[in-house]
Amino acid sequence: MSVKKRIVSGMRPTGALHLGNLHGALQNWINMQTDYDCFFFIADWHALTSDYENPGNIKNYTHNMMVDWLAAGLDPEKSVLFVQSRIKEHAELFLLLSMITPVPWLERNPTYKEQIEALNSKDLSTFGFLGYPVLQAADIIIYKAEGVPVGIDQVPHIELTREIARRFNYLYGRVFPEPEALLTEISKILGTDRRKMSKSYNNAIFLSDSPEDIRLKTGRMITDPQRIKRSDPGDPSVCNVFSFHQLYSPADLVAQIDPDCRGAKIGCVECKKKMAEHLVTYLAPIREKIQYFKNHADQVDQIMENGSNKARAVATQSLAEVRDAVKI
Ligand code: TRP
Ligand code: SF4
Repeated sequence: MSVKKRIVSGMRPTGALHLGNLHGALQNWINMQTDYDCFFFIADWHALTSDYENPGNIKNYTHNMMVDWLAAGLDPEKSVLFVQSRIKEHAELFLLLSMITPVPWLERNPTYKEQIEALNSKDLSTFGFLGYPVLQAADIIIYKAEGVPVGIDQVPHIELTREIARRFNYLYGRVFPEPEALLTEISKILGTDRRKMSKSYNNAIFLSDSPEDIRLKTGRMITDPQRIKRSDPGDPSVCNVFSFHQLYSPADLVAQIDPDCRGAKIGCVECKKKMAEHLVTYLAPIREKIQYFKNHADQVDQIMENGSNKARAVATQSLAEVRDAVKI
């Protein structure tokens, strides 16, 4: 028997992963693999809640997301890596949880209202979208997870998960632990335009970007907005390029750039060029592995299949207990 704490987390397959995803969530998952009993999945049904009108990319994105995960360092020998829609038990538990979840809990959910406003080009007045957190609760408690590594934006969903688990246990006897959110530190790096890095803002650097892409995108990055002329002193503490240096460049270079920038001894063009080369070096092994897995699609499919089988074995066991508890 494993004594490691079980954790579960998922990502919606919405496109290639970028540096914001890597430093925001993925690197955290990778680090947790040794100390936790990890279940990580691709939430393709959740992608459908907002993209039901255009589902055409979800399958491809799912495959590519697994490629990015493996290349970045998620390891199928250490973690159970799987695809949500392959474990039908998630849907069955979702249905049963929907019987006991009061609708006002869902309508009150702050992310629900925010998302409906933010994604106003899509009609999200669907039952599925309202029920998004119920499906998420099912994803988590079906594995009897104790922790859920997520960003701060997901905290309301984990809170709802706890409430749903508590209500289930109250009504039918204790089956589920109440999982805790394990907060992921927010990534300090921003997109090339200094907004949050996001595929839809067109400001992202992807794990799969070529060295040429990286140099081009770096060249366009906004630096200290107060530094207009080469002779102006700069402030690295407000410069996104400097945040990148801190992640990718050797410590002695970072230590040198700080005073050189403040004393206008280095120009932004040169500073960016240096950073770009270190970022290229940092991403080279990941990009190489992405290439490898793109050329070995069968291997990726096999990994998803094996992981899904492992997840299903656990989910099936839980559902047997659940059916027993609800006398169905
Ligand atoms: N809602 C999560 C997000 O948008 C994705 C997700 C679905 C998830 N099911 C989950 C995260 C279960 C953690 C646990 O990021
Ligand atoms: Fe940023 Fe470097 Fe320019 Fe300073 S010199 S403002 S750290 S890009």
